[in-house]
Amino acid sequence: MEYDLRNLNKFDRIGIMGGTFDPIHFGHLAAAEAAREKYGLSVVLFIPSGIPPHKEANSLTDGKHRYNMVRLAIRGNPHFAASRMEIDRDGVSYTIDTLREIRSFMSEKGRLYFIIGADTAALLPSWKEFEVIPELTDFLVLPRHGYDTGSGLPETPLPKNAEILDMPLLEISATDIRERIKNHKSVNYLLPAAVVKYIHTFGLYVLSGQSLPEIMDYLEKNLSKKRYLHTMGVYETASKLSRIYGADEKKTAIAALLHDCAKDMLPAETLKACDKYGVKSQEIFKESVGLAHPIIGAKIAADKFGVRDHEILNAIKYHTTGRKNMTLIEKIIYVADRIEPYREPFTELDRIREIAEINLDQALIIVLKSKIAYVKSQNKRLHPLSVAALRFLQGN
Ligand SMILES: [Fe+2]
Ligand SMILES: [Fe+2]
Repeated sequence: MEYDLRNLNKFDRIGIMGGTFDPIHFGHLAAAEAAREKYGLSVVLFIPSGIPPHKEANSLTDGKHRYNMVRLAIRGNPHFAASRMEIDRDGVSYTIDTLREIRSFMSEKGRLYFIIGADTAALLPSWKEFEVIPELTDFLVLPRHGYDTGSGLPETPLPKNAEILDMPLLEISATDIRERIKNHKSVNYLLPAAVVKYIHTFGLYVLSGQSLPEIMDYLEKNLSKKRYLHTMGVYETASKLSRIYGADEKKTAIAALLHDCAKDMLPAETLKACDKYGVKSQEIFKESVGLAHPIIGAKIAADKFGVRDHEILNAIKYHTTGRKNMTLIEKIIYVADRIEPYREPFTELDRIREIAEINLDQALIIVLKSKIAYVKSQNKRLHPLSVAALRFLQGN
């Protein structure tokens, strides 16, 4: 829940941690804790910046994610709180506006401590209405290793009401964390485990640009709640399997996210999309228009999200039928679709989940067989590709 700023008038000493928090890490948390302890702060408010004046806006992760990570990081600490005020504000975020807003909620005698890094402190004179800012807040400046003269402090003189926060130097940088994630290196113990999990779940920092979050936003808007959850489940399972079997994690993630992107289209929309993309309305679609969703899904992946990679496109295209000689990513998506954590339980589900992590082909055979048995039991027509897939795997 968003922190209720009206609470601020109860406190005499309030800390503010500003920053992009892209992502938040133990350096931020340790600084906030040191300040809280030393200055007896009742609350430290973490305020992820919206569009900061000093950084390239488009290189920044969506505010929603940065805020969620902050929330996860401070969970359980009664003295820490998070505010969306800068994220929700239109236009460029200026500290002066934030300080005025916070001040408006505080009591007359309340004292405000703005916790900033030495690097940010050096930029203070360039801030909007810099002369007024010291009337609104005191500063606690974090020393930073290797910053100029070795004192850890900037060469620019600090404002009068700035104090150096005495704390152990933690050499953790968000830039470094993003680099490590991009290169598939561990970031454990640099930031809270819940935040690491969140980063992996949403594929943050993995792709250059913002593709995964962008795709997720699209899905959230275009899929039913149930399908969105299913998709996130497939994504989670497929990511896990890709790590186990050494598949390309990026490609697997995109295929998993987009596999059902066309599934919630109405029959009329599906037929229209078939027309648009020149997909021949096959005989079998007449039985069930839903059978077109993998093909249309692959078209949307290419058309809307610029996916050109054939491994990704084929994993989407064949995720319901399978086919002879499937690639690793195709197998992963096919199996993950069936065993993702939000699936309604069915006989053998737990066993298939176990097998999938040990022997992917065997899991695939079981899933194919059970699908084929189901189609037969419904007296529906078997897709020849499914039969071919099973035969191929069984070597006959
Ligand atoms: Fe599907
Ligand atoms: Fe699915």
